[in-house]
Amino acid sequence: MASTAFELKGKRVFVAGHRGMVGAALMRRLAREQADLLTVSRSEVDLRDQAAVNAWFAAKRPQAVFLAAAKVGGIVANNTLRAEFLYDNLAISSNVIQAAHATRCEKLMFFGSSCIYPRLAPQPLREDSMLAGPLEPTNEPYAIAKIAGLKMAEAYRSQYGADFISVMPTNLYGPGDNYHPEYSHVIAALIRRFHEAKISGGGNVVVWGTGTPRREFLYVDDLADACIHLMKTYSSPELVNIGTGEDISIAELALMVAAAVGFRGEISFDASRPDGTPRKLLDVGRLSGLGWRATTSLEDGIRLAYLAYRADSDGRHPSDLPVPDNGPILRINRR
Ligand SMILES: NC(=O)c1ccc[n+]([C@@H]2O[C@H](COP(=O)([O-])OP(=O)(O)OC[C@H]3O[C@@H](n4cnc5c(N)ncnc54)[C@H](OP(=O)(O)O)[C@@H]3O)[C@@H](O)[C@H]2O)c1
Repeated sequence: MASTAFELKGKRVFVAGHRGMVGAALMRRLAREQADLLTVSRSEVDLRDQAAVNAWFAAKRPQAVFLAAAKVGGIVANNTLRAEFLYDNLAISSNVIQAAHATRCEKLMFFGSSCIYPRLAPQPLREDSMLAGPLEPTNEPYAIAKIAGLKMAEAYRSQYGADFISVMPTNLYGPGDNYHPEYSHVIAALIRRFHEAKISGGGNVVVWGTGTPRREFLYVDDLADACIHLMKTYSSPELVNIGTGEDISIAELALMVAAAVGFRGEISFDASRPDGTPRKLLDVGRLSGLGWRATTSLEDGIRLAYLAYRADSDGRHPSDLPVPDNGPILRINRR
């Protein structure tokens, strides 16, 4: 596994998907790197549009790209919008990766996800489990498209010598999460439901599934910090998992979110809703060997996420949140 020094300072750095949860966290973190940050809104350049992407890259010539634009969602969205998840993600990945190569971009980071490993891969999930078994059926279209993206980054490296790397983040949460009532990820969904129940004085919150699946969660500003670290120091075809290496049951998580929100009613579980993969935890040995580990505890991260959820109502976008001098933003000091 090669290691190299790649300087971001003074470079034209494109964050694709800068208004998304990951993209906004990258923007906050990159503000400390003295790079020339490039962004473009979807209304100007739809990344599914190959000609528009090529023209934009030819004009702006980014030297580094974080490919954090994607069609992303929770279990219901993945299972319902199957054609969109496949088409959008295939088109975005292939357009951006090819345009980056054609304009001689020096470095690109592609974002995979822990949910694209095989459904029954041994836990904790190692990077070499990729493609070693059948996928989780509920998000197979998303996984197929994302795996194609990983393979493109790998193939452009082996055929053209392009310095394209791929990371595999675990479940993320934090400022800029999607709070859609049906299409959100679990922590965002829980924050919203507990908050609304608290405000309306509701006594019972129903959590989807049995509460027994175990999941790992990473605060999104920690992810951004890991990505900058890898962009600067890592150059190799092997995937790199990004997570905390610790998991928690959904039932325990629900109690933690309820406490952070201040909800004091009852919590029940709707076992008729799908659980998805029984357990999902990343092996983060490779990442720690590369010199990075997460610093935000789940308890602190959930409080910060809840603060950000409430700040959303004052009209601030996550990419406009204050930029810290160092460390993740809005860190809570524990007594
Ligand atoms: N969220 C997680 O838990 C998680 C976990 C593992 C990996 N990841 C990966 O991290 C990356 C970012 O995820 P995220 O959670 O930040 O997603 P997100 O909040 O939904 O943001 C996605 C971004 O992509 C942009 N986008 C989508 N389709 C586009 C299109 N056709 N043209 C231009 N822009 C488009 C969106 O633009 P608009 O603002 O216009 O909608 C948005 O800015 C994805 O590759 C995802 O697979 C996420």
